[in-house]
Amino acid sequence: MIEVLFFGLFLTFVNADGVADVVLSCSLVEEGAGLGGMGGGALFTRTPATLVLRDIPVGPDESLDTLTPFVPPSVPDPDLILFENKVSSPEIPNAGMLLHADCNEQEVMCEISRYTPRGLEEGSDPAYFMVSLSVVGFDFSTSLILQTLPVDKDQQTLVQNKLSLPLSQSGTLLTKVIFLVFSNINSVSAPLRGDVLLNCGFKQEEIPLAPEVGLEWRLQHRGKGRKVLEIKTKLDDTEGATVVHGERKGSSVDGAQFLSEGNVSMSLTELKVVDEGTYICTVNLGHFHAQQVIQLHIIQPPQVSLSEEKLVLSKSSPQTLSCHCAKYYPLEAQMEWFFLPPTETEPKLFPNQGSLSSHRQHGDRTFSLSSHITVPPSFSPGTKITCRVSHLALAEPLYVSIVVESPRSDSYWWVLGFLVVTVLFFYQVMK
Ligand SMILES: *[C@@H]1O[C@H](CO)[C@@H](O)[C@H](O)[C@H]1NC(C)=O
Repeated sequence: MIEVLFFGLFLTFVNADGVADVVLSCSLVEEGAGLGGMGGGALFTRTPATLVLRDIPVGPDESLDTLTPFVPPSVPDPDLILFENKVSSPEIPNAGMLLHADCNEQEVMCEISRYTPRGLEEGSDPAYFMVSLSVVGFDFSTSLILQTLPVDKDQQTLVQNKLSLPLSQSGTLLTKVIFLVFSNINSVSAPLRGDVLLNCGFKQEEIPLAPEVGLEWRLQHRGKGRKVLEIKTKLDDTEGATVVHGERKGSSVDGAQFLSEGNVSMSLTELKVVDEGTYICTVNLGHFHAQQVIQLHIIQPPQVSLSEEKLVLSKSSPQTLSCHCAKYYPLEAQMEWFFLPPTETEPKLFPNQGSLSSHRQHGDRTFSLSSHITVPPSFSPGTKITCRVSHLALAEPLYVSIVVESPRSDSYWWVLGFLVVTVLFFYQVMK
């Protein structure tokens, strides 16, 4: 349920010591309880909300002139939903990107929803929220779990109208990040039979919340799902306590990096077409779990060749020429034909683009496809015919060419005549 909702229009405020506050426009997403009678599907309501991330580290070479300070409303408003994240530990990885996104006017997607930890009562105190944060066009994505901080209540304490939670004196909902799962890649392409590392990591509050961590990598493709790898481990323990359950040969997570850094990136070796799909990295930590989604695309460039090594025009009948694209993936490939007469400099599009064979699929699920053209006898010798192939796995189109040769009969008689004349000439001279 990760969707594009609201885009970030935000302001930043920089402190003297190289940290900045990032203010994000988000939307609070709630299941439309009580609207059940309105028919099919879950209904969600979206309410504008603001998330203030305090103390995001800013690089020294950052230009900060354009940043506008964030000022909390002078009169606290119980209708506003203003999350304030005060504690900077655990640090949000790559959060500096949020500043860059601001400068480059990239959209930030920020969605907040109520979160009920497993095994805890709904509506218990403290309250929890899940924040999904990503930047369009950047490889940055994270799911944060926020926990509300206690508020010293007195007569003046306001309660947020929608969430029924006490507000701080400046009218914000004070929270801290207790757990997050992140990835620095949303989509990755890898060659067939190659290897890939699907990036995923987690961070938790310094105090060990839960000694046990569970990791699950799943693959979802065309409506089908399967577990790829599962690891259960005790964070404060040796690797002896780790239970690894791999369902795909050649899938692994570095155990040491898992324990020391929370790096749960999964490596896959010997990639096959069936490995393609949507990978979901889920980390379970005590009552909490959060996930990241990464797309894996398998790409394999075509082997391109022409059917003929030599193309000699025949006076009477047209010649056939084929361009073969072999063993590529995915299916979409484009073949175009061009010709360049010897007297010209610009290649022209072939009058009748080739007829395509139906594609064939091989055992390794790669495809092959051919395009056939007819070369008319009217073509002048010396004309260059080119097949241009474009495919996702090719950074640039591939070209294969052939130069049309004069009809065999002509040149044959010409060469023979020349030979006869030469022989006669020498015969005369020798005599
Ligand atoms: C995990 O480690 C690999 C290298 O071993 C690195 O490339 C990757 O960025 C790390 N990922 C996270 C989430 O820390």
